[in-house]
Amino acid sequence: MRLALLLLSLGAALRVAAQPLGLPPVPIPEDNPQTPEKIALGERLFNDVRFSSNGQVACANCHSPSSVFTDSPLKVSVGVDGLTGTRNAPTVVNAAYNLTQFWDGRSPTLEDQALHPFVNPVEMALPSHDPILEVIRADRDYVRDFRRVFGVRAEDIRIEHVTQAIAAFERTLIAGDSPFDRWYFGGDENAISEAAKRGFEVFLTDGRCVSCHTIEHDHALFTDHRFHNIGVGVNAMQDRIEELAKAFLVAKQRGVDVDVAVLSDADTSHLGRFAVTGDLSEIGAFKTPTLRNIAVTAPYMHDGSIATLREVVEHYNNGGVLPAGAPVNPFLSGGIRPLNLTEQQIDDLVAFMESLTSPEFQQLAQPERVSALGAGR
Ligand code: HEC
Ligand code: HEC
Repeated sequence: MRLALLLLSLGAALRVAAQPLGLPPVPIPEDNPQTPEKIALGERLFNDVRFSSNGQVACANCHSPSSVFTDSPLKVSVGVDGLTGTRNAPTVVNAAYNLTQFWDGRSPTLEDQALHPFVNPVEMALPSHDPILEVIRADRDYVRDFRRVFGVRAEDIRIEHVTQAIAAFERTLIAGDSPFDRWYFGGDENAISEAAKRGFEVFLTDGRCVSCHTIEHDHALFTDHRFHNIGVGVNAMQDRIEELAKAFLVAKQRGVDVDVAVLSDADTSHLGRFAVTGDLSEIGAFKTPTLRNIAVTAPYMHDGSIATLREVVEHYNNGGVLPAGAPVNPFLSGGIRPLNLTEQQIDDLVAFMESLTSPEFQQLAQPERVSALGAGR
């Protein structure tokens, strides 16, 4: 394994493993089949800074291969001209498995998702998708590649071709085969430490984590693909929730762009899934994120407000709030209540989460975190 890591570049390492241990087959939409040429084109588009208002921001700025396709350690992302958004960039690694995209699930597919950052004023900030097509049509290599991949002439290249190629590339960013996978699915007793094994037990039982961060008999995505209010962000705006929710519904009726609104205003962002559905029961609810590679993608939560995995567990242990005893919001999901975990159980849960790092990203793990790995590593 170590030798393989040295030999393969990060991208190549990700690409060879079509279905690593612990993951199901990657779903590929019928109308956007994978081809090597399309994937290569998508990778180039993903890295092209010219598709932004100041010519400096590519998808890869916020989803960098060297940070597990996030912008860790930033709390919230930085787009053109240093503008900050309201949300933490999720990893694109394994996003191919998501049933919805974004923290609030407002986009149904990778193809659709890729339309948004180009024209979001705090991300790539283009006035429309037209400037992208102009750059592409004026670039001989792109024109040649789009003809090869999609059989189109320069004037027939559309933004849907661009997003299809990007999505095809993203579907190659798959990483499993963590020490946990080698233990749980692979039967290697030495793959993880005793602490991580105990932590997994807490994850399943006293911690009740698995009810949302789910595991199947032959794979684990660590998400139920659903939306829950676990008390992040919205706890701090209790008195204003109703007023904000009403104001947002009015703005929505008047045609406000939800994508723009949630990334440019922190309060609106904290409304979560409610901003998409208008359903009061979804105030402050966010998509359950995967826990794969969680030890190397700090900080945590939709707003990047929790710095360490230990604090995340303390948040849950307190019943959905940090610090303990602070008021919780009335829309908290049913499963979130004080857990009464011991210090040992908290440490063990952290050790378990540290065992979810794929080999491609193991070098990002901090020395003290390697404790999650079994002896001899
Ligand atoms: C300025 C930083 C920035 C740029 C540039 C950017 N993203 Fe993102 N990305 C984010 C943030 C922040 C989110 C979460 C936003 C939300 O949930 O509302 C996100 C979410 C995503 C998701 C959803 C992942 C999930 O688990 O739900 C995907 C996929 C993604 N981005 C791909 C892309 C692609 C493709 C591009 C280029 C076309 C791109 N991003 C450009 C910051 C960025
Ligand atoms: C009721 C469903 C639910 C339960 C139970 C639950 N989680 Fe979560 N988890 C979520 C949701 C939803 C988020 C995102 C919340 C947000 O960003 O506001 C999240 C976020 C996280 C994150 C941060 C992920 C990231 O990418 O930033 C970690 C780590 C985490 N949970 C671990 C745990 C652990 C450990 C437990 C058990 C002690 C647990 N969760 C129990 C739903 C749940």
